[in-house]
Amino acid sequence: MKHSKVTVVGAGFVGATAAQRIVEKDLADVVLVDIVEGLPQGKALDIMESASVEGFSRRILGSNLYEDTAGSDVIVITAGLARKPGMSRDDLLFKNAEIVGGIVTACAKYSPEAVLVMVTNPLDVMTWLAQKKSGFPAERVIGMAGELDSARYAYFTAEKLMCKPADVKAVVLGGHGDQMVPVPELTEVQGKPLPSMMDAVMIGQINQRTRNGGAEIVALLKTGSAYYAPSSSAVKMVRAILQDTGEVIPSCVYLDGQYGLKDVYCGVPAQLGRGGVKKIVEVRLTEEERLELHRSAADVRQNFLKLNIS
Ligand code: NAI
Ligand code: 2OP
Repeated sequence: MKHSKVTVVGAGFVGATAAQRIVEKDLADVVLVDIVEGLPQGKALDIMESASVEGFSRRILGSNLYEDTAGSDVIVITAGLARKPGMSRDDLLFKNAEIVGGIVTACAKYSPEAVLVMVTNPLDVMTWLAQKKSGFPAERVIGMAGELDSARYAYFTAEKLMCKPADVKAVVLGGHGDQMVPVPELTEVQGKPLPSMMDAVMIGQINQRTRNGGAEIVALLKTGSAYYAPSSSAVKMVRAILQDTGEVIPSCVYLDGQYGLKDVYCGVPAQLGRGGVKKIVEVRLTEEERLELHRSAADVRQNFLKLNIS
């Protein structure tokens, strides 16, 4: 039986942890690529040496060559610079655009049928850039951020209510930046809407902590950014695509009129499966949330335009 093949570009914190999670869940064989010689090979070998302990049977190949990625079903791109203290996601824009542009072109050449899952920041702009550089249909180029932001919202909510994070179904929309849009009315705790469980002041606090979720980790780590929850979130998307689950996962997708937004990448719930985005799900928003979503999308567009890509 032919196993699925996933390429992870960038063998740093997010990429290597994503590769580890993919093989530990036996989802696919992985090619882990990085520009630094020895780094992907060393991490791949280290993870493979845990195979008998963890009991997985999929393999990881570490490589510096895109030839090795040929025929991938899914390509997760995590290569680039990570945020340092005091640095915004947008500070990364120009440097990461250069890195991502080259990588996407190489990946698209060797795996023309793959689904791209972008992780590199600034996420929404890099996802849009990846679609342009690959020339892939938009449904095959998706960004990971909404699942991470929603997972953080779920955790902060669960902490306040002293319940299990898995009992919270959180909804966070918009771009992966300070203008992301938590939606308390659609967030459910054991099936009940969040506003029925928590007062507005407390909801305002978790909304703000979620918007600041990435920066909170950067401030603690001092030398890098989050990677455990980001890699979990990316691998959830990879699984939905490989196993064609049709799960609805908040994702950065190309909007073509949905939510009144056209020709822009932004975070909304989307049904994922083989071939990438199967359907964009339109949830009911208050007028204020709709305006916030439009502001967030306008911010993505403004940054994308700075790259001067036609
Ligand atoms: P990291 O610094 O640990 O890893 C980045 C890796 O990319 C390094 O190993 C580096 O050698 C490699 N790299 C750089 N240029 C390359 C090239 N041209 N070709 C191949 N590899 C190259 O960073 P980390 O923590 O893994 O984060 C990676 C990216 O993901 C950052 O841009 C970060 O901001 C972003 N991120 C996005 C999240 C999201 O929600 N979308 C969440 C967490 C991180
Ligand atoms: C995060 O939200 C750095 O975007 C990354 O953790």
